[in-house]
Amino acid sequence: MRRLRVGVMISGRGSNLQALLDACAAPDFPAEIVLVVSNRADAQGLARAKAVGVATRVVPHRDFASREAFDAAVTEAFEAVEAELICMAGFMRLVSAEFVQHWRDRLINIHPALLPAFKGLDTHRRALAAGAKEHGCTVHFVRHEMDSGPIVGQAVVRVLADDTADTLAARVLEAEHRLYPHCLRLIAEGRVRVRGEIAEIAGNGAPD
Ligand code: GAR
Repeated sequence: MRRLRVGVMISGRGSNLQALLDACAAPDFPAEIVLVVSNRADAQGLARAKAVGVATRVVPHRDFASREAFDAAVTEAFEAVEAELICMAGFMRLVSAEFVQHWRDRLINIHPALLPAFKGLDTHRRALAAGAKEHGCTVHFVRHEMDSGPIVGQAVVRVLADDTADTLAARVLEAEHRLYPHCLRLIAEGRVRVRGEIAEIAGNGAPD
């Protein structure tokens, strides 16, 4: 079986990276992680990759004069290992228009809200403040406008009357850990076609 060569970008804890690593550990999973890049040397996710023998690179953004120069170094790192798809997994920096264009329809992100609602940070507190009854997470192809782009999949989490931002975040995170590998599988199996701003899913696009 040919496996899609995947690069992952992280900045911190790396629990979504862990979910992707776990999925890729199954012999019949159609993707493999060939490199994890972090912009922070202290990202906990780096140890998760190392623990299973996946290559890591730290590309400290402060070493670069511009966002474009940092992004170009990241592109170079992924191209050196022939990555075919990049997954952002808690990567907490904006990327340049050049980077988005270079990886167009080959760059996905997970966001902790049901896009297009609650773009940006602090999504769980804002969902509670808005009185949302449903919340969740989204995997989408990355476009230049922050937290926008063709949606590959979403998972819905019910908001409970006694939720705090932390309890809601914890349930959304569990949903993220199921959704991200599911969406990666769909793409790796060639079941996702991007037409303009819509991602079309062949077969049933619902999470397992
Ligand atoms: C996740 O909840 C992810 O959706 C979010 O950061 C967390 C990273 O956790 N991403 C964003 O907010 C992107 N703007 P992790 O490092 O444990 O995967």
